[in-house]
Amino acid sequence: MSNTAVGVPVELRGVRAPFDVERIRADFPILRRQVRGRALTYLDNAATTQKPQQVLDALIGYYTTCNANVHRGVHFLSEIATEAHEVARGKVRAFLNAASTREIVFTRNSTEGINLVAHAFGRWRVNAGDEIVITAMEHHSNIVPWQLLCEERGARLRIAPIDDSGALILDELEALLTPRTKLLSVTHMSNALGTVNPIATIVRMHAVCRCWSTDRRPRITCRSTSGRWTATSTWRRDTSCTVRRGSACYMGGSRCWRRCRRFSAAGT
Ligand SMILES: Cc1ncc(COP(=O)(O)O)c(C=O)c1O
Repeated sequence: MSNTAVGVPVELRGVRAPFDVERIRADFPILRRQVRGRALTYLDNAATTQKPQQVLDALIGYYTTCNANVHRGVHFLSEIATEAHEVARGKVRAFLNAASTREIVFTRNSTEGINLVAHAFGRWRVNAGDEIVITAMEHHSNIVPWQLLCEERGARLRIAPIDDSGALILDELEALLTPRTKLLSVTHMSNALGTVNPIATIVRMHAVCRCWSTDRRPRITCRSTSGRWTATSTWRRDTSCTVRRGSACYMGGSRCWRRCRRFSAAGT
């Protein structure tokens, strides 16, 4: 094995350090439990995630020092609870690389989050003849809200198929993405198959949109990455895109989330 000047084997350059399972496990006190004489193995994280010591400490710290109404009180504890809440929102924004903290809405679980989008964005933007695309590897929480929305709005639910190895058939998914598509909702990793979907490729696949204007009326042209379709429409103030002239169009930006936040008292 040859070494580079900085001592990293050539073969390992660009390769991430292996995931240190033991170091991560050590953060989770519940994993020290013995179950029927063996160390606990826990795999149901999508349903209920175990908490590392850092989270348990933060929870105890919060309830013992500053538990109070967030955004709904004017006393000392409420102010520091609100500040802690907003600091956490900022950290989540940075972690997700979201454009603004206005796009971060806390919900109790993923089903509530998806229902929130279905009710707020869906009832606002999805109409008869529109389509919503999901994949054949989705959990119920990412199927039922869309079935109910399509039934209510007269829209159509399209399902991208998987192959015999459990991989998403990307060509078929792309063929389902047309100007009628109002929303694509896809899991990053399937709990049933273990398949990891190429989310970055899928996001790029959707469309490349440009905003332009000839007669002071902004227009958007969207073209699928494969070039299969193009669509042009006038941009109105209530459109779900946040657009700057000449820039790429980002679907479902803060304008959309503002609606979500107005819709739900549960999402904060
Ligand atoms: C794979 C998977 N996705 C989503 C969910 C829904 O999760 P939540 O309870 O956060 O709505 C579950 C719940 O069991 C799940 O197992």
